[in-house]
Amino acid sequence: MSENWKLLRQKILNQNLNNSSQYFQCDQYNFKLFNVIKTFRDSKVFLTYSFLANEEFIKLDLSYEQPTFSLTQYKSEFSGFLNTGNIKIWQTEEFLGYFLLKNGFLFKDKVILELGGGNVGLASLMIAATNFPKKVIVTDGNPKSVQSVSDNIEQNKVVFKRNMPVSKQLLWGKEPGFKICETCNFLIVSDCLYQEDMHQSLFDTFDNYLTDETLIIIFSPMRGKSLQNFETKCKENKKFVIKTFLNFDEELFEKNLKFKTDFLSYEENKIWPVVLLLSSNENNLNDFISKSTLNSNKVHC
Ligand SMILES: C[S@@+](CC[C@H](N)C(=O)[O-])C[C@H]1O[C@@H](n2cnc3c(N)ncnc32)[C@H](O)[C@@H]1O
Repeated sequence: MSENWKLLRQKILNQNLNNSSQYFQCDQYNFKLFNVIKTFRDSKVFLTYSFLANEEFIKLDLSYEQPTFSLTQYKSEFSGFLNTGNIKIWQTEEFLGYFLLKNGFLFKDKVILELGGGNVGLASLMIAATNFPKKVIVTDGNPKSVQSVSDNIEQNKVVFKRNMPVSKQLLWGKEPGFKICETCNFLIVSDCLYQEDMHQSLFDTFDNYLTDETLIIIFSPMRGKSLQNFETKCKENKKFVIKTFLNFDEELFEKNLKFKTDFLSYEENKIWPVVLLLSSNENNLNDFISKSTLNSNKVHC
């Protein structure tokens, strides 16, 4: 093969590699939470997440339909808050997964229910893959997301040795008297606070599952005033004790600060998650904090 052909061949191969977008971490600012390989094929996005958990190397092969952003389709299929889970895995979901894995032993034999898990329910699938929890249920209000999570569970069934997670539809505030599970130790929520007119429905669903045993873990970027307003409503509600963490992980927080100083375009308000812990039982809340990695970080209220 002549040198020119070799060069051309290499160029095409490199192009293919770039097109398949093999890179680490799925968003622009790389917190290096996991090793992620992302590829696109047949109008689907494929993501392979690899990580060590519970002394095991775990690989999750995930996929979802690639959203197309032509104006008409954007308006019809992927617009509105109830469709945001079909766009991508939001970075907050990765932070939540990272936190759950880092504190895996605290979820041993527990029942976890995710609200608004989007099209993959990444954090839920990650903790389910450790086989620590007794049961993991991923929910979303959007039936397309629910189906996509179901497909992802099926795709990774060899990973879930002890208990297969399940995917169900749950529309916040729309299930008086009906429960997807009787007892639930943890409700987990990622990036679901920015639609403020949904706050009340979310509270109603919390109410439906809240017992003295339940802890609600919310990861959410500030997103303007929405998180702050949610926090205020929680305090007014008086059913919960609430603790807020601006810095849930020292090392990642340092990276967040570095991105902030290094990149003018970095929007901390949309990326860095604040962590809210809610419970009706203060002892339960404090016990969780004292055993978790949150213990070494600063509580601001
Ligand atoms: C920004 S997305 C976050 C998805 C996922 N947690 C993540 O971080 O990648 C918000 C999610 O909340 C869901 N959602 C919005 N309103 C809802 C409602 N009323 N009931 C149930 N789910 C809802 C959406 O369908 C969407 O999947």
